[in-house]
Amino acid sequence: MPRRKTIVAPSILACDFSRLGSEVERVDRAGADWIHCDVMDGHFVDNISFGPAFVEAASRHTKLPLDVHLMIERPDHYIPRFLPLAASITSHVEAQHDISRTLATVRGAGLLAGLAVSPPTPIELAKPFLGQFDILLVMTVNPGFGGQPFLTAMLEKVAEAVRWREEGVFDFHIEVDGGINEQTAAASVQSGANLLVAGTSVFKAADTAAEIRKLRGE
Ligand code: DX5
Ligand code: ZN
Repeated sequence: MPRRKTIVAPSILACDFSRLGSEVERVDRAGADWIHCDVMDGHFVDNISFGPAFVEAASRHTKLPLDVHLMIERPDHYIPRFLPLAASITSHVEAQHDISRTLATVRGAGLLAGLAVSPPTPIELAKPFLGQFDILLVMTVNPGFGGQPFLTAMLEKVAEAVRWREEGVFDFHIEVDGGINEQTAAASVQSGANLLVAGTSVFKAADTAAEIRKLRGE
């Protein structure tokens, strides 16, 4: 089977918040495919990042799809506020919500629905929802903060997700998030991931466009 096109989604968690607009424009111009927005509530993870108003501000500076990653305890409650802004919304299998209903709400609004699995969580917990999500997000760091080292053991989960895709009738993106740089991007793609989130490596690179090309394996 031909390899899927690799999608690179810079995470604005790593950008200079005081210059949000120009930072979004910078990665857009540099060839980003999607823009990843990390929403954190201080409960589900030990950090508070930003909410819908910030995502809306970012949306005014790009036409690229916004990939919203909700690291919040009650995604079902907040999803309606992100629906008009995002192209995809991913919530966690570990959060407090009716997962099938959340995924159906996102899909019902015409967006891609994502399901995320944190490092300590077995990937098997996502399996009952096969066919209900468009993106399976394998976290490659513990969610909450940018700049952490990639957890290589998570590639086993990526490989397992590839097996689900091959054995079944269900198609979905396999997304990796956390510690993605040129080396870990290549390893992730090798294992079967096609959607790469990168915060630090893109926003702190000397040459943003060259970094995005490297992540894409070009
Ligand atoms: C972690 C976030 C990631 C983070 C990645 O909780 O979900 O998207 O921004 O940042 P880097 O690329 O710096 O690991
Ligand atoms: Zn993320």
